[in-house]
Amino acid sequence: MLGVILAGGIGTRLMPLTKVTNKHLLPVYDQPMIYYPIQTLTKAGINEIVIVTGKEHSGNFMTLLSSGREFGARFAYVLQEGAGGIAEAIGLVEPYARGSSIVVMLGDNIVFDDLTDEVRGFKSGCRIFLKEVADPERFGVPEIDDSGKIRRIIEKPANPPTKFAVTGIYFYDSTVFDRIKRLKPSERGELEVTDLNNSYLADGKLSHGFIKGPWLDAGTIENLYQATLLVRKLRVDGREP
Ligand code: G1P
Repeated sequence: MLGVILAGGIGTRLMPLTKVTNKHLLPVYDQPMIYYPIQTLTKAGINEIVIVTGKEHSGNFMTLLSSGREFGARFAYVLQEGAGGIAEAIGLVEPYARGSSIVVMLGDNIVFDDLTDEVRGFKSGCRIFLKEVADPERFGVPEIDDSGKIRRIIEKPANPPTKFAVTGIYFYDSTVFDRIKRLKPSERGELEVTDLNNSYLADGKLSHGFIKGPWLDAGTIENLYQATLLVRKLRVDGREP
């Protein structure tokens, strides 16, 4: 499977830290943020990775990450112009996927689970990963019926139907690109990943797993700090992430 890391955006919630650099280049304890999703993917056996960035700081990503050799991987870089949304960014990697499935990670997601078996076991459709959180209203949230099936996913609901967040790790089969072409922009003018996932759900092709270890979206000042504390704790406890 091809790996995709989405590392665009202007990092509004991290201002002024993101005034002169990109959010994914900021430190999380002893590494730049983007190292963590790279390590999650390479640990799962994915070593062809496309990094999607905005054009403002794209040169810094190449300086930092280069060809990917240091990570035992091969990197390609794709530019997303403007703020067209997560689903638009995924659509840009179509020429690199060449008909294969893709694993997408949002570049600010810090997770240490070993996804090797999940990657090996993925056949088709879309697979998402849930994590119980204290503040589900900040995320995509699934509505789940009595049999444990997801009924729909709601983006940042004011009254979340469950305590689960849809994490920023998504597996898609090759139908993803045609599905993205059929999406309509949301009220904020973006192609939403939640609409993309709901399109699989409508066809009965959405499955889900759970993240077992810690998970953080480091996109706010408080969570960036929590991510640093978490990584430090794991390092000090000797449980090297
Ligand atoms: C995005 C998605 C949201 C998901 C979250 C995970 O939100 O839109 O569904 O739960 O990532 O990190 P954002 O962090 O871009 O607001």
